[in-house]
Amino acid sequence: MTMEKAKDYKELSVMAAERIAMKISNKPNAVLGLATGSTPEGMYDALIKMYNQKRISFAEAATFNLDEYVGLHSDDENSYAYYMKQHLFQHIDLSPEKAHLPDGEADDMDEACKAYEQRIEEAGGIDLQVIGIGLNGHIGFNEPHTPFEQRTHVVELDKTTRNANARFFPSLEAVPTHAITMGIQNIMESKELLLLVAGEQKASVLERLVYGDKTEAFPASIIKEHPNVTIIADQGALSGL
Ligand code: GLP
Repeated sequence: MTMEKAKDYKELSVMAAERIAMKISNKPNAVLGLATGSTPEGMYDALIKMYNQKRISFAEAATFNLDEYVGLHSDDENSYAYYMKQHLFQHIDLSPEKAHLPDGEADDMDEACKAYEQRIEEAGGIDLQVIGIGLNGHIGFNEPHTPFEQRTHVVELDKTTRNANARFFPSLEAVPTHAITMGIQNIMESKELLLLVAGEQKASVLERLVYGDKTEAFPASIIKEHPNVTIIADQGALSGL
């Protein structure tokens, strides 16, 4: 596990974008695993800047997002599909049919999970997966006590996760109760993992990740076993170490 220290959120965002830029310059048809939440927003801004400066192109790349809420239409501004469109996809040359998110609106959720796995497999697996971390140690939407071997599945969201994400919704009641997420096993299968941790509110989470034991009670603890994982953290997040 490599830890890269950024002085602030802006530097973290640029460092993360540089990693992605390096990946797609070395392998233009790279398969990128993407995340949502506040943390990667700056990274997406930095990537758009690089694209506008003609430093990078996504024309041959493919992307797979970690997760999506169940029951929100992709036009709903709280869906992750909408988030990705606003924060990245509409600004770059990635072809829409190569931008994948789990289908939170499928009639048959088990089928949707299987279909998502199949699409990842057909694309050749994920070369570089970006992840954030929730306040309870969740990765994607894999809440505490999710078995480490779990694959893409539907999850009932933890109360703390719904509370944390309520800031994006008109009320707590409006936050969906379920989501579809890649499993921990899928995340561990990516060839390279990049975890972004920003801000003082994540200091104790990062501390637990670095010093704590591997336990399903803290899903992110598994990533220390990944053979190629980098954490980029800013000073706020590093303040507990
Ligand atoms: C959500 C997402 C996660 C993300 C987490 C942390 O629950 N499903 O993928 O890592 O939030 O988000 P933030 O970066 O806003 O703290």
